[in-house]
Amino acid sequence: MSFSPEWLRLREPVDHRSRDKTLLAKAASYLVNKDEPVIYDLGAGAGSNLRGTAPALGQRQRWVLVDYDPALLSASLDYLSQWAEKSRPTAAGLELEKSGKLIRVEVKRADLNANPAPWGEQKPDLVTSAALFDLVSEPWIDRFCAVLAKDKLPLYTTLVHDKTAKWSPAHEADAQMSAAFERDFGKEKGFGPSAGNEAIGTMARKLQSLGYDAQLADSPWKLDANDHPLIEQLAGGWANAVRETKAVSEDVIQKWLTARKARGTACVVGHKDLLALPPK
Ligand SMILES: C[S@@+](CC[C@H](N)C(=O)[O-])C[C@H]1O[C@@H](n2cnc3c(N)ncnc32)[C@H](O)[C@@H]1O
Repeated sequence: MSFSPEWLRLREPVDHRSRDKTLLAKAASYLVNKDEPVIYDLGAGAGSNLRGTAPALGQRQRWVLVDYDPALLSASLDYLSQWAEKSRPTAAGLELEKSGKLIRVEVKRADLNANPAPWGEQKPDLVTSAALFDLVSEPWIDRFCAVLAKDKLPLYTTLVHDKTAKWSPAHEADAQMSAAFERDFGKEKGFGPSAGNEAIGTMARKLQSLGYDAQLADSPWKLDANDHPLIEQLAGGWANAVRETKAVSEDVIQKWLTARKARGTACVVGHKDLLALPPK
């Protein structure tokens, strides 16, 4: 599955304001005694999770951004250079200065389906991700949790889709569109049949069964007229996904889409964050 840098840029400010700040603070306090924690960001895309997480962490940080899309990894280096006050290229990626913090960044191209533990011998102090785990399957979750537990690695993940969007004002085609969208959401996304909205709960239960302290928190997108460009893109994405299912006529899709792209549309998209800390 591929994602455009434009889409990831558009959602970035909404992602950052939506994430649960208590879990973020707890993840930061878990790392407080590490001088330069090594943080692996899985499915890092254009680097939004680093820009959303790093401000809460300590003075020195080392990030490894993992993705299978080389164009997004390259965009991540551009966007991070623009975000930082100072940026120097290094052999592996970048060294950034931002708000008094020194952040070393490396990019790594890897397919997480083939290898859910792309760190090899270099064990991270934190594994993180944003907007990734609703793509994965239950068997992949089992594999991933097993590799985390083997080395007692902590996980902090944010913005995992867990509920169908609720649009307002109501439209007569909402139920039909939601049902078709859900059917598409459960499709294969490169990791086997997607666990979709169930993924985050399944992951939390699995890690608990392995002795982890797993805490979940809501991080919904609450979109209103100020988020109109994102609402338009979201509605367009829904229409495309529903079209693929062939469960709804083009006429109904078009009418729904026109209504949803109108000014004044609001939408709540359910997400969850998870902080899972390993047993001592
Ligand atoms: C919804 S995007 C989220 C990107 C970024 N974390 C963010 O919050 O903006 C999902 C990301 O996962 C990456 N991805 C999907 N499947 C992958 C796989 N099998 N291996 C590595 N990366 C993958 C995509 O390329 C994309 O960058």
